Amino acid sequence: MNFKMKPWFGMLLLATLILNACQQPGKNSTGSEYMPDMAHSIAYEANYYNYYVNNTWGSEEEYYSYAKPKDPVLHTVPRGSYEATAGSSATGISIDESNSVPYEYADTEDDRSKAMENITTSPFPITEKSLSVGKELYAINCAICHGDKGDGAGYLVRDDGGKYLVQPANFLLDEFVNASNGRFYHAIIYGKNLMGGYSDKLNFSERWDVIQYIRSLQAGAAKKLYSPMENTLNSDVPAAMVKMAMSDMHEMNEVETMEDHQKMGGEETSHNMEH
Ligand code: HEC
Repeated sequence: MNFKMKPWFGMLLLATLILNACQQPGKNSTGSEYMPDMAHSIAYEANYYNYYVNNTWGSEEEYYSYAKPKDPVLHTVPRGSYEATAGSSATGISIDESNSVPYEYADTEDDRSKAMENITTSPFPITEKSLSVGKELYAINCAICHGDKGDGAGYLVRDDGGKYLVQPANFLLDEFVNASNGRFYHAIIYGKNLMGGYSDKLNFSERWDVIQYIRSLQAGAAKKLYSPMENTLNSDVPAAMVKMAMSDMHEMNEVETMEDHQKMGGEETSHNMEH
């Protein structure tokens, strides 16, 4: 009598029994699924290993061979690769929209030396913009330790400041003035000892903006020039004016610097072009 009055009760019972018949996944079993091909695509997908034992047209090995990353085509250069940018000629900048460039040196002493040896030039010329962006980013990310002037006397190590245990590098020392750009770039990517890396805070061009700003601090302390007009500090980075002659790819304060430059007269110009 009761049952007749509640037909839904029978249906609920039945549904419970059916659903419980499906095996639940456990420690040693993947469970069983109703129509697995709805959940597991039978298509293979590039770079995604989705082999599933109950639902496949190929063997596990076949799935793996299709899914694994493919080798690049012989003699091709990946877009945005570090060596393809920094190592190339003045105009060869190919950076993708995310401004992220793969860095192939590992966080080891060996690779630190290799980076210092190989990364000498900068992919960007010195511009007003790179220096002002670099200044801002340096103030935000580095100055608290390395000091506003780059002398390693940042707030954290000052007597009246924080209590930082180690001496941050003093960029004004000859050791750092003469160091190649790779030393700075590698340090920004991985940090060094107690200093953490900044690869997630600064993108490719921002890292170079910071390096250029550090170079300009070094130049200032050594009474040398490191500006869009002229770089007498090192031969690593051409000043914008020199680079402009070879490339029109850059949006910078071109017009302004060009005019400023012309005001300075022809003597400087010919001097500049020799670099
Ligand atoms: C929290 C403090 C701190 C901050 C912030 C910091 N550094 Fe450092 N940095 C250090 C210390 C400490 C060392 C010395 C590490 C050592 O040699 O043991 C160092 C060393 C370096 C070196 C020298 C590495 C070498 O090869 O000897 C460079 C270059 C450098 N930092 C760049 C930067 C830049 C660029 C930034 C900002 C993006 C930055 N640092 C931010 C603490 C800091």
